[in-house]
Amino acid sequence: MNRVYVHPLPVRIWHWANAAFFIVLIVTGVQIRYLGLFDLMSFRTAVTVHNWVAFALMANFGIWLGFYLFSEKNKAYHPEFNIVKLARESFEQARYYGYGIFRGDPNPHRIDPYHKFNPLQRMLYQILMLLLLPLQFFTGLLLWDVKRFSNVVELMGGVRVVDTLHVLIFIFFVFYMFFHPYLTTLGHTPTAHIRAMVTGYEDVEDEHEQHAQAQPIK
Ligand code: HEM
Repeated sequence: MNRVYVHPLPVRIWHWANAAFFIVLIVTGVQIRYLGLFDLMSFRTAVTVHNWVAFALMANFGIWLGFYLFSEKNKAYHPEFNIVKLARESFEQARYYGYGIFRGDPNPHRIDPYHKFNPLQRMLYQILMLLLLPLQFFTGLLLWDVKRFSNVVELMGGVRVVDTLHVLIFIFFVFYMFFHPYLTTLGHTPTAHIRAMVTGYEDVEDEHEQHAQAQPIK
């Protein structure tokens, strides 16, 4: 195994603060949206905490964005424009998750600092970080002060439209909080990726080790 430095400090700080803020936002969000169904805290407390933590989350997003804007490591997020290559690699990765992993096959994706995500992760993280999170910030800001932003709210079709968008993305994030941690346990050991997000270093198999695993001695 080789140790490869894949998650620089700003990314790790952003990531774990982000996860903590997410948990608070989900709990307070559930309380705000499903008032009467849950009685975890008063509505007022839920709104106040939700607003403050949301601003902290947005500021924290600045750490992630700032780091990747000025680092060549942002290659990990570059889209693959060769559709045939993208489709082939995505299919191989999906086949590995759905079938190969249970047979002990090697992971088709080889990690290096500039390609730390497999094609499925890369697509998911692009959608998450460049579309859904910014959209959630935007709709959240509009709902935070509907009066002040009434022009934009009206342009988007009214409060109901903005609120529905915010809640739909919120529901997606609730599911994400279950399947993302699960997927991160699919490294060469269940805690390998999680430890990497703490230390920065991922263990990567040598080329010949991987080859030997792919062709068991008969
Ligand atoms: C307790 C909850 C969480 C755990 C255990 C967890 C775990 C991990 C781990 C181990 C990685 C690195 C390896 C990999 O991608 O498989 C990772 C990456 C990532 N996670 Fe999470 N995560 C959690 C919550 C979240 C949340 C709430 C978000 C919401 C946006 C998130 C977004 C990301 C992103 C975007 C990356 C890639 C970061 C980068 O290197 O640029 N994670 N997570």
